[in-house]
Amino acid sequence: MNWSKLDTAYKSLKGNPLAGRDLLCLLDLSSDELHRLLSTALAQKQAWKQGERTKPYGDSSVVIIMEKPSLRTRVSFEHAAKRLGAWPTVLTGKDSAFSRGESVKDTAMVLERYVDAIVLRTYEQEKLEEVAGHANVPVINALSDSYHPCQGLADLLTIYEHLRRLDTFKLAYVGDGNNIAHTFLESAALIGFELAIATPAGYEPDASIVKKCKVAAGGGTNIRISHDPAEALSDADVVVTDTWASMGSEDEHATRIKAFEPYRIDTAAMALAKPTALFEHCLPAHRGEEVTDEVMDGPGSVIYDEAENRLHVQKTLLSLVMAER
Ligand code: CP
Ligand code: NVA
Repeated sequence: MNWSKLDTAYKSLKGNPLAGRDLLCLLDLSSDELHRLLSTALAQKQAWKQGERTKPYGDSSVVIIMEKPSLRTRVSFEHAAKRLGAWPTVLTGKDSAFSRGESVKDTAMVLERYVDAIVLRTYEQEKLEEVAGHANVPVINALSDSYHPCQGLADLLTIYEHLRRLDTFKLAYVGDGNNIAHTFLESAALIGFELAIATPAGYEPDASIVKKCKVAAGGGTNIRISHDPAEALSDADVVVTDTWASMGSEDEHATRIKAFEPYRIDTAAMALAKPTALFEHCLPAHRGEEVTDEVMDGPGSVIYDEAENRLHVQKTLLSLVMAER
């Protein structure tokens, strides 16, 4: 069976290990599953660009719950569902599923009676785990305080499209040790590329997540964590940064700026990386803060490809997890 073929037969595809599965973080996948997911996304993206418009999920529906603001994730998931033929219901703000104090269990068990997948952006990873524990439909993490796996998929697909390889490159992540940093740790564990993370003191990635990823990486000699941006950036193939204050910690913004100033990605920082280095940022960016306009709009920047790929990877992800078991 051709994994790249998106038609009605796809729904009953034997050997689709993701059917019915949750994606709460990238380490929910094996390395093989991650590679197959990415190659399927690449093939489905190419098919879409060549005009394929089959909608195999016309009898399916997805609920997209946003407990934090979103532009890319909300719009790309809604349109990914539409492109599959599935009906997306988006719940945000006051309408958000959990805003009236109903229990997580009741909410999850009601939603599973209506929809074929639950996409949830929230604060604590534990809430996603609780929803997944109750709902008998796939649950997808659309960002939590700990992880952003869908962003991680798009970031990897974008790197592959530009470098034509996924294993032998160095990625420098410079900035806050946040959900995006944690997701790159998981990617490095699953794929084996060289990851150098540099954060200010006090803003390192969560120690238990680092430990988990190093174990998953078979020791983690490909992963280095320091406070030295120059060392991280040296000879990097890909440079990544993210906001200095994530959603939920905006009130720390003013106090963080001083600590993060030396970690800004500007032209001088990019000059430490390879001359051909790519620049990634999940967006939204704070131009002039964690990254300058020159880098955002520079020759290595792939930020809009990265944003576009959110749609493609999530369409593939939905098509695989909603497939018949
Ligand atoms: N990168 C990302 O998740 O963007 P949004 O917060 O706009 O969804
Ligand atoms: N680290 C950021 C990512 C936004 C897509 C946040 O959590 O706000």
